[in-house]
Amino acid sequence: MKTERIVFKNNEDLVRPARLLAEGGVVAFPTETVYGLGADALNPEAVADIFRAKGRPADNPLIVHVADKESIRPLVAEITPLAECLIRAFMPGPITLVMKKSERIPDICSAGLRTVGIRIPVNPIARALISMAGVPVAAPSANESGSPSPTRAEHVIRDMDGKIPFVIDGGPCEVGLESTVVDVTGDEPVILRPGAVTEEMISNICADQGFLFGDLRSETTLVGEGTPRAPGMKYRHYAPRVPVRVVFPESGGYSDSFRGEIRSRLPAGEHERIGLFCGQGVQEELESTLSREQAERLVFYVYGADGDIEAAARNLFAGLRSLDKSGVGVILAAGFEVGKIATAYMNRLEKAASADTRPAGDRPLAERRTVLFVCTGNTCRSPMAEAIFNDSVERRGPFFDSTDQRILVTPQARSAGISTVSGHPASDYAEDAVRELIGADLSGHRSRMISDRVLAESRLVLAVSDYHAARIRAEFPETEGRVFSINEYAEKTGAIFPGSIRFKMTDGVPDPFCSGADEYLEIAGMLRSVIEVFFPYILMDLGISGSHNGT
Ligand code: TXA
Ligand code: MG
Repeated sequence: MKTERIVFKNNEDLVRPARLLAEGGVVAFPTETVYGLGADALNPEAVADIFRAKGRPADNPLIVHVADKESIRPLVAEITPLAECLIRAFMPGPITLVMKKSERIPDICSAGLRTVGIRIPVNPIARALISMAGVPVAAPSANESGSPSPTRAEHVIRDMDGKIPFVIDGGPCEVGLESTVVDVTGDEPVILRPGAVTEEMISNICADQGFLFGDLRSETTLVGEGTPRAPGMKYRHYAPRVPVRVVFPESGGYSDSFRGEIRSRLPAGEHERIGLFCGQGVQEELESTLSREQAERLVFYVYGADGDIEAAARNLFAGLRSLDKSGVGVILAAGFEVGKIATAYMNRLEKAASADTRPAGDRPLAERRTVLFVCTGNTCRSPMAEAIFNDSVERRGPFFDSTDQRILVTPQARSAGISTVSGHPASDYAEDAVRELIGADLSGHRSRMISDRVLAESRLVLAVSDYHAARIRAEFPETEGRVFSINEYAEKTGAIFPGSIRFKMTDGVPDPFCSGADEYLEIAGMLRSVIEVFFPYILMDLGISGSHNGT
C-alpha cells in the first residue's frame, strides 16, 4: 500500500478519508497538538489496526476524539459536575478528559480500563473530518511507538509510509505537544500528562467554580503498586535514537552553557557532530565565538527567538527528529524553567533525555558510557589516553549492553585534571605525538578540572598514578570502587603489560612535562599498549559486550 498525502485545501479533500474512516479504515490527520492516527472508536477491528500500524502495546488506551460536546454523552457513563466545568472551560482545545466509559466503548480501545479519554480538537480540519465520518475517532499520536510524536505530515509519512492509506497534510501543528490529560473521575482533577492547558489554568477554573483543587498535582509517574494512572506514561516516549542532554542557561545565558557543553564534548580523535536545539541568538553567538573546526561539527535546529518557550514547544519534536536524522552523536537541547507550557515541554524533553530510565523498547537505544582518564593538568597524558581509547573504539564495534543485546552502546573516553585551569589546549608535543601515532587530532581539546559532574557521568575512572587515584578518592569519596590508578587496575584485572613498558610504569605513566617530542611519543606509545591490554576489562566495567562477530 502506498500512503497518499492529501494536502488540505478545503473540505472536499476530506470526503475520501472520512468515508474510509466510516468504513473501518485508518487515517492520519492533523490536530492542534500533534498528528493523530484515527479509526472508528466503536469498531474493534478498526481500532486493532491502529495498534498494529503503530506497534503500540495493547495495554495502552487510546483517546477518543469527537467533533462537539453533544457527542460526548453517549460515550461516557456520566458527566460529573467537575467534568462539565472543564468541558465548558477548555473544550474544544488541547485537553483530554478521562471519564467513566459507557458500554459503547470497546475494551480494545480503552485497553480494558473502565474509563475513556475524550478530546475535542480545536483544529478545524480534525473536527470537519470527524463530523463528516460520523463516528467517534480513536486516535493516538501518529508516530511509530517510541519515537517522537509527529507535528508535520512528513513525520507521519516517515513512520507510517506503506502502513496506512491517507495522511491529511494540514501543515505544522500549532501547539506541538500532546494534549493535557486530566482524570476527572474523582472529586478533584488529576493531571496525568501536562500539556498546553496548564495546571494553573485548571486550578483557576476550579477555584472560580468552587471545585476542589488543593491537592491538584501533576501525576505523571506511577501511582501505588506500580499501576500507572496514564498507562502511556510508563513507556519510553519521544525518544530519538541518539542521546539527548538538556542545557539550562547559566549566569552567562544560554550561549555560555552551550559553549561549555560543546567544548567538553568535542574530544579530539572523534569526528562526531553535535546537534543543537536552541534559539537564534545562541546560534549566532556560538558561530562567532567558536573556532571554525568546532563550529563545523555543529548541526543547528533553531526553534525561534531565544527564550520563546511556545516556539520551542511547537518545534521540539520536529527538532529532535531532524537532528536525529542528521546523524549527530548527541543532541543538546535548551531547557526551560517551569511555568506555563514549560512544564509540558520539560516533561517531554526529560523523557527524551532520560536514557538510563527508559525500559528497553523494541528497537535498540543508542547510549554512551564513559571511562574518564585523569592526570594533573589535562593537557598531556589524559588527553592522549582519551584520544587513543576513542580511536580503538572507532576501529572496533558495534558494542551492546552486556545484559540486553538490543541496546546499542558506544564506549567513550573523556579526560580531566586534578589540578588545572580549564580551557587550555593540549600541549603541542602531545598533539604531535597522537597525530603521529594514530592520526588523531587533539587540536580541539580544552583542559578541564575534575568535578562531581564529570565523575558522575563516568562509570570508570583511570588515573595516571596511585597518587592521582588517591587524591580523587579522598576528595570525592562517593566515587569509591570506580577509581583506579593504572597499576591498581592492572592488579584488579590481572592484566599484564608488555615487558618493554612494565619497568617504566612502576610509578604509573611518567609525566612528560618539560621534556621533548621523543619522550611524548614514547609516553603515547606506552598509553597505547596499556589501553590495548585494558580494553576488554574497561568494556566489562562499562557493562558493554563486543560485537557479535567478536572483537
Ligand atoms: O494531543 C493528543 O492527545 C494526541 C492527539 C492525536 O489528539 N493524542 C495522543 O494520544 O497523544 P496518545 O495515545 O499518543 O497518548 C494518550 C495518552 C497515553 O499516555 C494514554 O495512556 C493516556 O493518554 N490515556 C488514554 N486513555 C486513558 C485512560 N482512559 N486513562 C488514563 N490514561 C489514558
Ligand atoms: Mg503518543
